[in-house]
Amino acid sequence: VTLAEGEGGLPVVRVATALATGELYLQGAHVTAWTPAGADPVIWMSGASHFAPGEPIRGGIPICFPWFGPGREPGLAPPAHGFARLAPWRLEAAEERDGAVTLTLRLTDADAAGVPAAASWPHPFTATCTVTFGRELTVALTVRNTGPEEISYEEALHTYLAVSDVRTTTVDGLDGATYLDKAPGAGPDLLTQEGEVTFTGETDRVYASTATAVVVDEGAGRRIGVDKDGSANTVVWNPWVDKAAAMPDYGDDEWPSMVCVETANALGDAVVLALGEEHTTTARITVTR
Ligand code: BG6
Repeated sequence: VTLAEGEGGLPVVRVATALATGELYLQGAHVTAWTPAGADPVIWMSGASHFAPGEPIRGGIPICFPWFGPGREPGLAPPAHGFARLAPWRLEAAEERDGAVTLTLRLTDADAAGVPAAASWPHPFTATCTVTFGRELTVALTVRNTGPEEISYEEALHTYLAVSDVRTTTVDGLDGATYLDKAPGAGPDLLTQEGEVTFTGETDRVYASTATAVVVDEGAGRRIGVDKDGSANTVVWNPWVDKAAAMPDYGDDEWPSMVCVETANALGDAVVLALGEEHTTTARITVTR
């Protein structure tokens, strides 16, 4: 485990064990790489990502908190997906066990106070993120309400997965789940997934699903499993041609090589915590051929 200066001068933790290599930026507690031994990289990163203090990293696993997208409450600041991904998290521990390395990172409201967007959600909290780089990749986010009032928040472990071609990739495990379609031109009504998810255009869906076994299947290629706990929603996203071209930190031709499968609690499934309560959301990524 080494702590180094990464892209844009941001501090980065690099992990190399017999089981896997991995990389995590302290800004956002943001995983930017995980490659099990003998496998191809599983986590997708954009070649056009900005790496700069207070700016989102494109790809990897952004932690969206305490709001998702623009958020549900009026007055939440841009950019989308909350301030946790823009904030400097503290590295509290790095431990090795059975060849896997677990990093523990922490962010409190005081730590995030330097991020301008944090002022629009003025609630005391402690967020703890543990990331285990091994034969599996596990990311767990625990949020504790340390303030005097009930809080409500949205969150997502916004996982960008590398695929050979999204046009021949399916996402299995959501059959029968209802979803909100956020793609341009979609109506406000909830829809129902029939069979596996396939990709034929911009795809931006928030599924109501606590299913623990979603599988990204590349057809002839590998299968990436996303199992989860403590999450009521799975978000599936690919920007396709026009949105890729519109995003300044995303290459125009990169969209076929990724899909996001996000472990989330969003919209009507926001988490509510009374004083002293905490909630943990966990995503486990595995790879098989
Ligand atoms: C997804 C959203 O989770 O994140 C999409 O559902 C959004 O609507 C995408 O475009 C990327 O968001 P951002 O803020 O990182 O560009």
